[in-house]
Amino acid sequence: MRITSGSDSDQLITFAADEVEELVRRQPNAVLGIATGSTPEPLYAELSRRSARGLDLSGLRITCLDEYVGLSADHPQSYRHYITEHVLDPWGIDPGNAVMPVGDAPDPDAAARDFESRILAWGGIDLQILGVGPNGHIAFNEPGSAFDSRTRVVSLTPSTLEANSRFFEDEADVPRRAITQGVGTILESRRAILLAFGEGKADAVRAMAEGEATEDVPASALQRHPNAAVLIDDKAASRLRTAPASV
Ligand code: F6R
Repeated sequence: MRITSGSDSDQLITFAADEVEELVRRQPNAVLGIATGSTPEPLYAELSRRSARGLDLSGLRITCLDEYVGLSADHPQSYRHYITEHVLDPWGIDPGNAVMPVGDAPDPDAAARDFESRILAWGGIDLQILGVGPNGHIAFNEPGSAFDSRTRVVSLTPSTLEANSRFFEDEADVPRRAITQGVGTILESRRAILLAFGEGKADAVRAMAEGEATEDVPASALQRHPNAAVLIDDKAASRLRTAPASV
């Protein structure tokens, strides 16, 4: 795991966007794994600007990390809706080239298995973008998730429900379960870039990077990823004992 920090999150976003650009120029139909949430939004916006200026992102194949159980694709808080708005539409990608779990499938376990087999059918993920939860989750792998876990239905912890409630008008509407790629699935990505910004991520970043690799901190599994980069701002880096490289 290579950690890079910077005082200016725009610089870190440029760094990540350059890597996506380099990938798409080398391999126009690469499989790019998208994280949802607030952290990567500026990255997708930067890539949308590059697309508007002529960078062709339309051949990329897109996979999603997770989806709420029970939300239909057109629900404004569904991850399919997010990906359509932030990635597929602005980058000109055919929705048929995006693989996501079906949140409102009658059998969520079958939907999870189907999602994983579609990722494998594409030959796996070339570059996976990740965020991290304040409790150290990656995708919706909450503390206690096995490092060899596969895509499955999970129950969200109270801390994640609270963090997600900001997106829903009524707390009672926050879905309690999700379909998530497993930690093992994520570790199979050929390259991973995790972004974390702000003081609220500082404890998770320290546990992920400097603690032992433990299922109590699912993101610490990235210590075992052969090619993972962690891009963090100074606030997220503020509790690290060893100063990371600067961007
Ligand atoms: C989203 C996801 C989550 C988020 C994490 C951080 O697809 O898998 O693990 O990356 O909860 O969310 P933000 O970026 O909103 O702080």
